[in-house]
Amino acid sequence: MEEKIYSMPRIGDKAPEFKAVTTQGEINFPSDYSGSWVILFSHPADFTPVCTSEFMTFASMAAKFEKANTKLVGLSVDGLYSHIAWLRTIKEKIEYKGMKDVEVKFPLIEDITMSVAQKYGMMMPGESSTKAVRAVFFIDPKGVIRTILYYPLSLGRNFEEIYRVVLGLQTADAFSVALPADWQPGDDVIVPTAGSCGVAKERMESKEEMKCYDWFFCTKKLDKQKILDTILKK
Ligand code: BEZ
Repeated sequence: MEEKIYSMPRIGDKAPEFKAVTTQGEINFPSDYSGSWVILFSHPADFTPVCTSEFMTFASMAAKFEKANTKLVGLSVDGLYSHIAWLRTIKEKIEYKGMKDVEVKFPLIEDITMSVAQKYGMMMPGESSTKAVRAVFFIDPKGVIRTILYYPLSLGRNFEEIYRVVLGLQTADAFSVALPADWQPGDDVIVPTAGSCGVAKERMESKEEMKCYDWFFCTKKLDKQKILDTILKK
């Protein structure tokens, strides 16, 4: 049988639009989320162990994301009643790593036809042609895709990294800086590379609080509290 190839939107693309039924009612995506950051993440199926551990972790961190003006929207390749039953089971029966009585308040999209999963290239025939892989799309307040993470079925996502990506994207936007490897709020940030010989010379001679490893690689301090005061809701 011929293998189907699904295309995937890329960083910088507008998030593909769709209307969907969810556990929180119908949504129009991404227009309902205009003005907020959104994390759209997919799961292969309900009532599966890796997905359950991920869902509980995300739900437990929902308030943290909300404070960073970031809404969570999940998708699983199953029907609405299965979703409702799964979320009830999570709340009523599952205790995992100190998390219990976890109520999932963000929408979980019903995608039994895989129409949304296909639009976002969440299908990976090499993994499974009937399940969505663990994709994470970070979408900005203007509906533009800014980061994509893509995990296989066998590996649960790192939610601290997902939170770091949210803070990193917002910090880079708010302060016009880039962020080095393993950056965490409070670490030095990278100032934009000099675009002319004059600026490069100025950089190297500057007495400003900047550390230049070479003319193209300069960092400066950016106070953690200043970042949090700027990007987190009061
Ligand atoms: C899981 O979430 O546990 C899972 C789902 C699909 C395939 C493998 C694992």
